[in-house]
Amino acid sequence: MAILVTGGTGFIGAELARILVSRGEDVVLFDVAPNYARISDIRDKVKVVRGNLAYWPEVLNAVRDYDAEGIYHLGGMLSVPSNANPWASFQVNVVGMVNVLEAARLFGAGKVIFTSTLSTYGLDCSSVITDTTLQRPTTMYGCGKLYCECLGRFYRSKFGLDFRSVRFPSVIGPGVRTPGVAQWNAWMIEYPALGKPFECYVSESTKCPVLYFKDAARSVDMIYHAPKEEIKTVNYNVAGVVPTRTAKEIEQTVKRYIPESRISYKPDPDVMNYFRTSTVDVFDDSKAREEWGWQAMYSDFDKVVADFIEEIRSRPDRYGIV
Ligand SMILES: NC(=O)c1ccc[n+]([C@@H]2O[C@H](COP(=O)([O-])OP(=O)(O)OC[C@H]3O[C@@H](n4cnc5c(N)ncnc54)[C@H](O)[C@@H]3O)[C@@H](O)[C@H]2O)c1
Repeated sequence: MAILVTGGTGFIGAELARILVSRGEDVVLFDVAPNYARISDIRDKVKVVRGNLAYWPEVLNAVRDYDAEGIYHLGGMLSVPSNANPWASFQVNVVGMVNVLEAARLFGAGKVIFTSTLSTYGLDCSSVITDTTLQRPTTMYGCGKLYCECLGRFYRSKFGLDFRSVRFPSVIGPGVRTPGVAQWNAWMIEYPALGKPFECYVSESTKCPVLYFKDAARSVDMIYHAPKEEIKTVNYNVAGVVPTRTAKEIEQTVKRYIPESRISYKPDPDVMNYFRTSTVDVFDDSKAREEWGWQAMYSDFDKVVADFIEEIRSRPDRYGIV
């Protein structure tokens, strides 16, 4: 029996695949556009299936052919592509979720782990967001993800499927190319580490909570293995660095490691409009801590910056830097 990871050659999926391979799991990575460079170190230890989440037979066949015992469902379209093409986002993120849950139900993959997002909150959030804060998303991405959280909960109660999910803030790490509104958090470290200037597209005081990619991958693996009786909240916030750093505070930390960093600011009005009401200081993950012992390893922003720089400089090929 295998473990299936949808979006398995993506930014977080590839890191998760490394964790699974290191434990000797039989791993199948399902992806519409496999990124082989990102998994070059484990390429001979995983199977890669090219497939589209939106196509029911492709999902069904992958789950059946590899006799999947569990599914980490990370594949999908992120925020900017989803808003640019909401119709495709509906097919991939929403219909794709139905396809994954149905395939799991019909072929006995007992467990499905899903990755949701801070974007499910949306309107009028206070500076602290908890698992019980009202979710009123304003984007196609957030709307779709919230539906998937609820659908997974329905499959638990209706069919007894062991569905669990984590809600990430902005996940940062080296080599992110999929556009996202909050990517300045990662690029403000990555560009200076590569000796390039960075023109930040938000103002100095803008902030969005972040989680380091190694912690993101570890959290989905942890929740997969948490004892069933501990899973009560089902959909959990997972935080990294708390409180949230402003762009200027990130710049100051980066400059302690790379004093010659060249960082300037030219706020993009559209992005600024998106973050107009974003004042989240605390992305509260106390339920994940209480119920399955979650604890970020990279909660100290200095540790994030140091590891990020080390990763991108020591393994540029893995992160698409040539
Ligand atoms: N990166 C973040 O900041 C962040 C924040 C919150 C939640 N998440 C969620 O975490 C998950 C992983 O995100 P990531 O950062 O690794 O993104 P990513 O874009 O790097 O990876 C997503 C993967 O899904 C694949 N994919 C896209 N459409 C597909 C389709 N139709 N069929 C099959 N595969 C498809 C892509 O090829 C890619 O490899 C996503 O579900 C995302 O919504 C990410």
